[in-house]
Amino acid sequence: MRRLIDKLALTHSLTKEEWISLIADRPEQEYLFAKARRAAQTYYGNAVFIRGLIEFTSYCKNNCFYCGIRRDNRKAARYRLGKEEILDCCRQGYGLGFRTFVLQGGEDAYYTDDLFAGLISEIKSSYPDCAVTLSAGEKPKESYRRFFEAGADRYLLRHETADEAHYRILHPAEMSFASRIRCLTDLKEIGFQTGCGFMVGSPGQTPEHLAEDMLFITELKPDMVGIGPFVPHHNTPFAGEAGGTAEQTVYLLALLRLLKPDLLIPATTALGTVDPDGRERGVLAGANVVMPNLSPVGVRKQYALYDNKICTGDEAAECLSCLKGRMERIGYRIVTGRGDPAKEPGGISCTT
Ligand code: 5AD
Ligand code: FES
Repeated sequence: MRRLIDKLALTHSLTKEEWISLIADRPEQEYLFAKARRAAQTYYGNAVFIRGLIEFTSYCKNNCFYCGIRRDNRKAARYRLGKEEILDCCRQGYGLGFRTFVLQGGEDAYYTDDLFAGLISEIKSSYPDCAVTLSAGEKPKESYRRFFEAGADRYLLRHETADEAHYRILHPAEMSFASRIRCLTDLKEIGFQTGCGFMVGSPGQTPEHLAEDMLFITELKPDMVGIGPFVPHHNTPFAGEAGGTAEQTVYLLALLRLLKPDLLIPATTALGTVDPDGRERGVLAGANVVMPNLSPVGVRKQYALYDNKICTGDEAAECLSCLKGRMERIGYRIVTGRGDPAKEPGGISCTT
């Protein structure tokens, strides 16, 4: 089995059967993690990038079976942040040292393309040294292009699964796998630094599906891949399903690091939710990004995609100092800077 891990580290690709056997058995964990850590260090040293996450709306027109803010969850508390509130979050974040703002929200028609484009250009003109990342779901290519022209740098859109039949288990018939994939290829074509990703341990997921995710990522060549465990939400059709584990998640994260050593890979809040040491374990398996929450504390609990989400009561400054401590204790350091993908080994594009 070390042979497969070595092959992946060397050639950055495996056959579907090879992926399945690595994923199904999870052999040689420590060997894999050490190799993944070394790969991350080659590009990023012991730096961990921070992104300030602004969860700007909990309204969503979609009805994904796994998600707590799905349209049919009548019990979900809904809120929207106005332009000034979002800019306030950026101001606070900038003061704390954040140089990337991630605007994440449900698919909410209130935020028209005009509103988004205006907001993006305002953030970019106030903070020209910052990157703006959008995570606002599926849009027509023309809308993506407008956001890019307004100055947005990155776009996150998890593909959720690369297997069409599995996609239909996770989503209602009105949503389409083809449209999801179309969005990702549009984003890449336009020039965004693009992120895809999936949940680990989602209902119906098999090692074969995960192998397809790996092959999909090999082909798409995204700049970022976000993965986190599926965590059931009590007011969704998947309330009674089992969740994903930290073990499964960090194993896949390490495989991703070897697949594409310069990837930006977050140790996600969901990983920190299923295991109190999840984010540290993620970094020790090759993750190099953490995304503390910059949303106003008053709305945090309302952005509940899954149950028991951590950090919903903590001010951004508290989360940041907590994470700094967590990273330092495992020999890593949080760095300020946009945190763009490294262009070459040893090329860390940030300071401090
Ligand atoms: N558990 C874990 N992750 C979830 N997401 C949505 N619902 C859940 C859940 N119950 C993830 C999806 C989505 C991202 C914003 O959050 O992958 O793309
Ligand atoms: Fe939020 Fe630790 S990161 S409290």
